[in-house]
Amino acid sequence: MQDVPNHVAIIMDGNGRWAEERGLKRSAGHKEGGKTLEKLALYAKKMGIKILSVYAFSTDNFKRSQEEVDFLMNLLIYYFNEKLDKVCKEGVKIIFSGREKPLREDVLKAMHNITQKTINNDACILNICLNYGGQEEIVDASLKIHEDIVNGTLNPHKLNRDNFYKYLYQDLPPIDLLIRTGKEHRLSNFMLYQSFYAEIYFTDIYFPDFLETDFEEAVAFFKKRDRRFGNVKTNCKNSANKL
Ligand code: FPP
Repeated sequence: MQDVPNHVAIIMDGNGRWAEERGLKRSAGHKEGGKTLEKLALYAKKMGIKILSVYAFSTDNFKRSQEEVDFLMNLLIYYFNEKLDKVCKEGVKIIFSGREKPLREDVLKAMHNITQKTINNDACILNICLNYGGQEEIVDASLKIHEDIVNGTLNPHKLNRDNFYKYLYQDLPPIDLLIRTGKEHRLSNFMLYQSFYAEIYFTDIYFPDFLETDFEEAVAFFKKRDRRFGNVKTNCKNSANKL
């Protein structure tokens, strides 16, 4: 039996379909998804999960209509400036993963403000992946590594799969449990490096309908997994970190 996962990640999919099936605009689904995230962040803390990473907006989401992109950006600003207040007060530290360009100035400002506001919080971490791509993260890490080799601060022969993490957007431990809501069974370019030994939980439930009890069910699924990390014995370790 595994302990509670240390790092949980969620691909919050199905907001658009949730709305369309109710004859509503896709934006209504994102709004409802925001409320769900707020509840889940508080519940993660309650369950003793130390890190919750969520896929809020991918680099590829810029392909959507300007109307939807604008709505999402404004919704994110509203959440960072006001709606996540309870989450901040509960001691959750909010950090971001992703590229800054081409995010709007007002979005970057709201991201900066909430990061600063919660910088000393230590109950748990909410890592919001915004303008994020997993392949882009590995490419960006490679560029930083190249820079450090050129300026002499990194001996390339000392680079390994553990210290590679410090070149990623955030130096977080590997993902233990990856949840994807909304019927699809794919990774969609999400935290590819960090999910190398993640247990993956797919559910048909659309994100706005994903309740605390569903979250609990996903964690119960994780607890029953026999994690071997390539070894043959059962229950080797609870985390994929520092193999
Ligand atoms: C995927 O559903 C969801 C998104 C692209 C946006 C997720 C954003 C939120 C939950 C809003 C609040 C977020 C924060 C961080 C406060 P989809 O639009 O791809 O759904 P579909 O597959 O049904 O079209």
